[in-house]
Amino acid sequence: MIEDGSARPADAEPYAALASVYDAVMEHVDYVHWAEYILSLIRTYRPDARDVLELGCGTGSLAVELTTLASYRYMATDASPAMIEVARRKMTIHGARVQCQVADFRDLTLEDQFDIALLLYDGINYLLSETEIRRMLSGARRHLRRGGIFIFDQSTPANSLNNVESFADSGESEEGFFARKSRFDEETNLHHTTFDISLRNGEFHEHHVQRAYAVDEMCALIGPADWDVIATLDGFSREPATGSSERVHWILEAV
Ligand SMILES: C[S@@+](CC[C@H](N)C(=O)[O-])C[C@H]1O[C@@H](n2cnc3c(N)ncnc32)[C@H](O)[C@@H]1O
Repeated sequence: MIEDGSARPADAEPYAALASVYDAVMEHVDYVHWAEYILSLIRTYRPDARDVLELGCGTGSLAVELTTLASYRYMATDASPAMIEVARRKMTIHGARVQCQVADFRDLTLEDQFDIALLLYDGINYLLSETEIRRMLSGARRHLRRGGIFIFDQSTPANSLNNVESFADSGESEEGFFARKSRFDEETNLHHTTFDISLRNGEFHEHHVQRAYAVDEMCALIGPADWDVIATLDGFSREPATGSSERVHWILEAV
C-alpha cells in the first residue's frame, strides 16, 4: 500500500495489461485506409500472392480489414499472449478466417512459408539493437518463398522529434482506462513510453522502450544476399522516403 492507502500499480510486461485497452489507444487509427494502402502495395509488387504472415499483429485489427478486402490465407502472430487472446476474440466476432499464434519475431520458427510478410505500426521499433533487427530480418526471409515480399514500416527520429518529444494522453473503453506519457531521448534515439492502466482486476504500470532508426541505418542492416530493396516509401504514399519522413514503408523482395 502507498501512503494514501491505495495499492501500488503492479509492473507488467509490455502489452500484458495494455492489451485490454489497446483498441482504445489506437482509436485514432483508420485501419480500413491502412489495409487499402497495404493491399495496393501487395497488388503492385506481388499480385499473385495467396498467403500473408503478419508479425507483431497486435489485436489483429489490420488482419480483420485486410481479409475483408481480399481472401488470403492469413496467419497473424505477436509475442504477447494477451494481445493474441484479444486478436482471437476479434476474429471470432468478425468471422475472420485468420489463424492467430504467439510468436516472437526475433526468433521465428513457424512451419510454413508465405508470399507476403507484414510488420506494421512501429513493431520493428521495439528492436533495440542491430543484432535483433538482423535476427528478425533473417526470420522473415526464412518464412517467405523466393520472390516473396516483406512490407514493414518504421518510425524515424523525425517522427519522435516532431510529435512525441514530450507527449501525454489518456483514454478509456469498457475494459478500463489508460494514461500514457512519452519522452524521446535524442542522444540515444530511444523513445520511452509509460502506460498507467486501470482494469477491473487491478492497476498496472508498463514501460515500453522503442528505438527510432534513420533510413540509412536501417538500409545498412538489410543483407543483399537475402533481400532486394524494391522501395522505401514516405509513409502511406507512393513517394520515395526522404530524410524528413516520419514513417517509412519498406518493400523488400526475398532473393
Ligand atoms: C505498436 S503495436 C502494433 C500492433 C499492430 N501491428 C497494430 O498496428 O495495431 C506493436 C506490437 O509489436 C509486438 N511486438 C513487440 N516486440 C515483438 C517481438 N519481439 N515479437 C513479436 N511481436 C512483438 C507487441 O506485442 C505489439 O503487439
